[in-house]
Amino acid sequence: MMQKGLSGFRRFLDVMETEPEIQDAPDAVELKDVKGRVCYEDVSFHYSDDETTVLSHVSIEIPAGKSVALVGPSGGGKTTICSLLPRFYDVTGGRVTVDGQDIRSLTLKSLRSQIGVVQQDVYLFSGSIRDNIAYGKPDATEEEIIEAAKCANIHDFIMELPDQYDTFVGERGARLSGGQKQRISIARVFLKNPPILILDEATSALDNESERWIQHSLEELSKNRTTITIAHRLSTIKNADEIIVITENGIAERGTHETLLEKNGIYAGYYNMT
Ligand SMILES: Nc1ncnc2c1ncn2[C@@H]1O[C@H](COP(=O)(O)OP(=O)(O)OP(=O)(O)O)[C@@H](O)[C@H]1O
Ligand SMILES: [Mg+2]
Repeated sequence: MMQKGLSGFRRFLDVMETEPEIQDAPDAVELKDVKGRVCYEDVSFHYSDDETTVLSHVSIEIPAGKSVALVGPSGGGKTTICSLLPRFYDVTGGRVTVDGQDIRSLTLKSLRSQIGVVQQDVYLFSGSIRDNIAYGKPDATEEEIIEAAKCANIHDFIMELPDQYDTFVGERGARLSGGQKQRISIARVFLKNPPILILDEATSALDNESERWIQHSLEELSKNRTTITIAHRLSTIKNADEIIVITENGIAERGTHETLLEKNGIYAGYYNMT
């Protein structure tokens, strides 16, 4: 155990010594009492190693508790838009605000503590299922963990495993299906309980059964939270408060499901195709 621990600890030190590009401003303040209004104000962006503009003068306003869905062809910039919110990258023009505060004026820690992310590719680290769920809230009680797993529709499955919540997953642990892993990652976010959510819908094919369960969990999760969804299945976003079609030329269309169908443009084309 000592040996293993030491090599892990060395890797940990290496990671901790890396200077992150994005740092707190010297006068950064805590993001507190979050309502969850998110605004992209005239945002432009290009990746630093590449001068090609990815986003040009994009404005999106999401009132607290409302949802926006991003759709469009691969490479349009959907994931990029989402990664600006937790400041994985900083905008190169304009600004992103939460409750009216420029996110660059906030501490990264307080900003990120208010944002939950469910990603396309779920990452489980090696450890027990319990540890994997508790990741976003290490001091969570057993009851809270079980409650989160129930909300994510994964509790019953966990109880059928030989070691239940102690079942080891990750590199050398139990093999879980894509859908099961995703539900564990949804449980994480339920436990963290953030007011703002980013959902990058899985592109990989799930069977109908797990897809239905996941859809159900995600709907539950996004209730009363400000949500940005990157949707690959249009059926899942009909109810979004605003749907934004992103192409390489920027925002091509925006509106509700009904108005976009009426418009009979790109979105309607996608929708009628499926
Ligand atoms: N880390 C990066 N460094 C440089 N360029 C990047 C990086 N990530 C994405 N890009 C470029 O930015 C553009 C937008 O990519 P992005 O990942 O946001 O698209 P997307 O709409 O999410 O596509 P998909 O539907 O395939 O997920 C693409 O041209 C891509 O090549
Ligand atoms: Mg993407």
